[in-house]
Amino acid sequence: MTKYNCLNPIAPVGLNIFNDNYVKTDVFEEAEAVLVRSAAMHEMEFSSNLKAIARAGAGVNNIPLDKCAEQGIVVFNTPGANANGVKELVVAGMLLAARDISGGINWIQTVKDDENVAKLVEKGKAKFSGTEIQGKKLGVIGLGAIGVLVANAANRLGMEVFGCDPFISVEHAWNLSRDIKYVKTREEIFKECDYITVHVPLLDDTKKMINKDTLAMMKDGVVILNFARDLLVDDDAIEEALKSGKVKKYVTDFPNAKTAGMEGVIAIPHLGASTEESEDNCAVMAVKQLRDYIENGNIVNS
Ligand code: MLT
Repeated sequence: MTKYNCLNPIAPVGLNIFNDNYVKTDVFEEAEAVLVRSAAMHEMEFSSNLKAIARAGAGVNNIPLDKCAEQGIVVFNTPGANANGVKELVVAGMLLAARDISGGINWIQTVKDDENVAKLVEKGKAKFSGTEIQGKKLGVIGLGAIGVLVANAANRLGMEVFGCDPFISVEHAWNLSRDIKYVKTREEIFKECDYITVHVPLLDDTKKMINKDTLAMMKDGVVILNFARDLLVDDDAIEEALKSGKVKKYVTDFPNAKTAGMEGVIAIPHLGASTEESEDNCAVMAVKQLRDYIENGNIVNS
């Protein structure tokens, strides 16, 4: 019998893949296999029972990789499994920045009677007039599973899409999509684009990649989207850029105490992967990985 533990709720369609040889335990120390979504594991003690951790998600920042390596614990993630959910929210984020949809919805909710609603509609038309994304330039930094989906979706919405990723070759890029204009450096995207979205892991090289200096290269009124990781963006620099009008909107799926209520920020409570479909896909992939490792010793991340 293999005991597994779930540190966060995991979709039943995934847990059902465990057969009768597996039993769920609520005691973390007893588990040989652990499933986790967002629970922070850095401060946790790992018992000698623990063989593998599977993250139902792409990022692994909540797992102490060094400690796992030292203790021989294998760590899996589920790249791509929630990419469509994130892509759809990024598109929504661009539309929220272009059109003040939430402002309009809140405005009309102040309605009191029919006469009042007519006035609110009339005034609202002028107050909440926006812009269109068709014809605008979108820069996608990072062309992994999510970045490519975002690029293709934006292209179909009529945006001119630029992509940049130091880890892929031109040949591979062309196979991903012929509609993206590939550029060699992030700087080209910073200088050229009206909307900039980051889809890279948090590494030394990417930490605070949106900062005072890179913001200074950008067009006035640029929209920044961050559905990847909080620390990719320097919040102080964004605050200043929002105040000066350099940045029109900062759309983030990683709000913190500073950005959540900031003027010009559209803050979403980390909902990119929170769809039934993405949660199911991640759970299925994670459980299959754990079983394949425990039963066959295979380490496969897809
Ligand atoms: C991810 O890294 O894919 C997301 O953080 C998943 C999640 O929302 O749990």
